[in-house]
Amino acid sequence: MSSVIELKQICKHYCLGNNKLPVLHDINLTIQSGELVAIMGPSGSGKTTLMNILGLLDHANRGTYSFAGREVQALSPDELAHVRGHFIGFVFQSFYLLPKLNALHNVMLPLRYQRKSLTDANARAEVILQRVAMETYKQHKPKELSGGQQQRIAIARALVSDPKVILADEPTGSLDSHTGQDIMDLFIELNRNEGKTIIIITHDPKISQQCQRIINIKDGHISEE
Ligand SMILES: Nc1ncnc2c1ncn2[C@@H]1O[C@H](COP(=O)(O)OP(=O)(O)OP(=O)(O)O)[C@@H](O)[C@H]1O
Ligand SMILES: [Mg+2]
Repeated sequence: MSSVIELKQICKHYCLGNNKLPVLHDINLTIQSGELVAIMGPSGSGKTTLMNILGLLDHANRGTYSFAGREVQALSPDELAHVRGHFIGFVFQSFYLLPKLNALHNVMLPLRYQRKSLTDANARAEVILQRVAMETYKQHKPKELSGGQQQRIAIARALVSDPKVILADEPTGSLDSHTGQDIMDLFIELNRNEGKTIIIITHDPKISQQCQRIINIKDGHISEE
């Protein structure tokens, strides 16, 4: 196994007026390729902040972050966007599907941003919709789908560019426990059968217990079970 994520002494604060709000303190964390990891912690403890840094959506104030062996501090905005678009898939609690697009077009979107042709994007999206058992719903708009179905579409959108890493911020948080388990089963399958590295933020011990590692975060400090 090789490490895909390596954080060393990562610190993050937000600036509120003249005040600094420290959120992450000296985070050291290595995640190997192919791991399934849960991040747990109380509200406000810094989970989403950490996820945004892992996903290259935000930068740390101090420390180093290597993603797949490349130091992200050294990357230009274009290079960051490229790594994000090709190697990282995001899944969120509230799905963030575009309401006016049908399921197929939502899934095609990342490939269109990458300037893939309509034909290629369409073909790839169809394959991925089958992968998440949603091919029969491809013409449906998000509002015509259940929460669990919308989350499957959001996962398909995260998978469409075949990312190494999937980052999921409370992906089962707005689903009932049965539907949440269906989504968790899908993550477990993607991890076991396709070797995806998956990091899931969750408040639910039933979800975290199914992960190989559980990282706890409290007041911006991490510890591991
Ligand atoms: N953009 C921002 N500007 C200023 N403060 C922020 C910003 N984003 C988050 N914070 C603060 O940073 C702290 C950590 O927030 P974060 O969203 O990482 O928590 P969380 O662990 O994801 O919480 P939750 O479980 O409620 O989602 C909180 O005190 C929050 O108010
Ligand atoms: Mg959060």
